[in-house]
Amino acid sequence: MADKVKLFVNGQEVEVESGKNLIDAIGAVGIEIPHLCYHPALGADGNCRMCLVGIEDGRPPLVPACKTRAAEGMKVQLDTDKIKKIQRDIMELELINHPIDCPICDQAGECKLQDYYMKYDGQKSRMTVKPVLKAKKMDFGCGVVHDQERCVLCARCVRFTRLITKTGELGIVNRTDYARVNIFPGRPLANRYALNVVDLCPVGAMTSADFRFKQRSWFLTKSKGICRGCSKGCNIFIDHNREKYKDDVIYRFRPRLNEKVNGYFMCDAGRMTYKQENDNRLTVALLDGKETGLNEAVEALRRAVSQAKKIVCVISPNNSLEQMFAIQKFAANCNAAVSGYSDGYVIAGDGDDFLIQDDKSANRASFALLGIDASKAGFDAAVNGADLLICFQNDLSLSLTADALNALAGNCKLAYLGSNMDACAEKAAIALPVASATEDAGTLVNVDSILQQYAVAVVKNTPAFDMIHVVSQLGGEIKNCFEARAGLTAAVAALKGIDLEQVPGEGLALTVSEVPNVAA
Ligand code: SF4
Ligand code: SF4
Ligand code: FES
Repeated sequence: MADKVKLFVNGQEVEVESGKNLIDAIGAVGIEIPHLCYHPALGADGNCRMCLVGIEDGRPPLVPACKTRAAEGMKVQLDTDKIKKIQRDIMELELINHPIDCPICDQAGECKLQDYYMKYDGQKSRMTVKPVLKAKKMDFGCGVVHDQERCVLCARCVRFTRLITKTGELGIVNRTDYARVNIFPGRPLANRYALNVVDLCPVGAMTSADFRFKQRSWFLTKSKGICRGCSKGCNIFIDHNREKYKDDVIYRFRPRLNEKVNGYFMCDAGRMTYKQENDNRLTVALLDGKETGLNEAVEALRRAVSQAKKIVCVISPNNSLEQMFAIQKFAANCNAAVSGYSDGYVIAGDGDDFLIQDDKSANRASFALLGIDASKAGFDAAVNGADLLICFQNDLSLSLTADALNALAGNCKLAYLGSNMDACAEKAAIALPVASATEDAGTLVNVDSILQQYAVAVVKNTPAFDMIHVVSQLGGEIKNCFEARAGLTAAVAALKGIDLEQVPGEGLALTVSEVPNVAA
């Protein structure tokens, strides 16, 4: 528990965390100090002067709030005439050469310059001379597009490449009106986190080539989620929109703050995984490659289960903890073997020392919690002599050669429950569409043994079946996510005493001994 101090803001007493700067300390109790250059992950640069405040303790008349720590008894003034005038002056300075092209700017609706103009400025332009023209639509690499005219020179993007990725591709060149952000000639952005500069940029000067001109920010519903791109489990916003007469579509993933997992950032590859949620979806059930009704396909699989002599359930390291548990119970009921074989989800050496992990699945740690064997030897033994193989979102084509998968599909009936039309779904005699990662709720345990939960974010016009529901129709005893959670806390030692309906937003750290490493 952090120490608290009492101070006064415009005469009103507030209790805030000590040691923080005034922007964060006072911001935490809902009082805004406008700022452009400060960002908690990058520290105070002190270049924009938008955060100037008065302190009645003998200091110089005004101080930058980003560089001033909250202290006991401090008397902070935010609304004197002098401060208001400085805020208006800074806004006027920022806007002198700005193109004011909000109607075609992707940042409109989430732009600090726009918001602060409305809140702290509101003056008409006094400019009678032509503005200084700068470069537009600059391809900075990694899908980042820069507009020099919109830039307020806060240097957040520059500091990101110096302090966070330590790649230093960006700099501010020239002086005064001619100062601008640029890359070094012939050296574009070349790091795996580059698109974070789009989120960091407080204005529309850094935009994403992928998102540009696709949606207005105010039409987007911003739901919370967890990235499935690797075992880090970065917290994200899922920005989606259902336009009239159309289905709900995801337009982007953005990082969501979780100090214990990903801080303020996410990697570019994870950001782009939103496309899998929209594209190449398995939307209809298939029997031997032919479209069929969902109920008919479920019935066909139920028949196959009742007739099979040896069944193998292949669980995915991307299944939620609840799904894994429900599948395990179902497997026990029909005397099936369970395997989590998924070597192909791991790219050895691809991870780094920041966020990106070798393991491109989100929940392998839950294999250990539930005792699911993911070894190749275990898989080979399980499929030997099997006449029905049911893959639960596990795309075996990632782990097996095409020949091996063909041989498997030739030796036994292959069934697939998944959200996308991947190679495994194509080979399956029975393919059943189920809800994707953003369309159902569940629990994941990340590479650092942090248990996190996500809720349903996207609801389609015709929602896909929840996987646990389909498993229950096949003969599983668990009907839904809630029943799975109740069963999990009763059955899994590491989860005893944890209320899986009340997991805190930042997640719950399990002790390392509870989640030993599982080799893929
Ligand atoms: S591009 Fe954006 S983040 Fe970079 S200096 Fe300009 S305003 Fe700041
Ligand atoms: S580091 Fe992993 S979890 Fe985080 S955004 Fe990238 S792929 Fe997703
Ligand atoms: S936020 Fe303090 S000077 Fe920019």
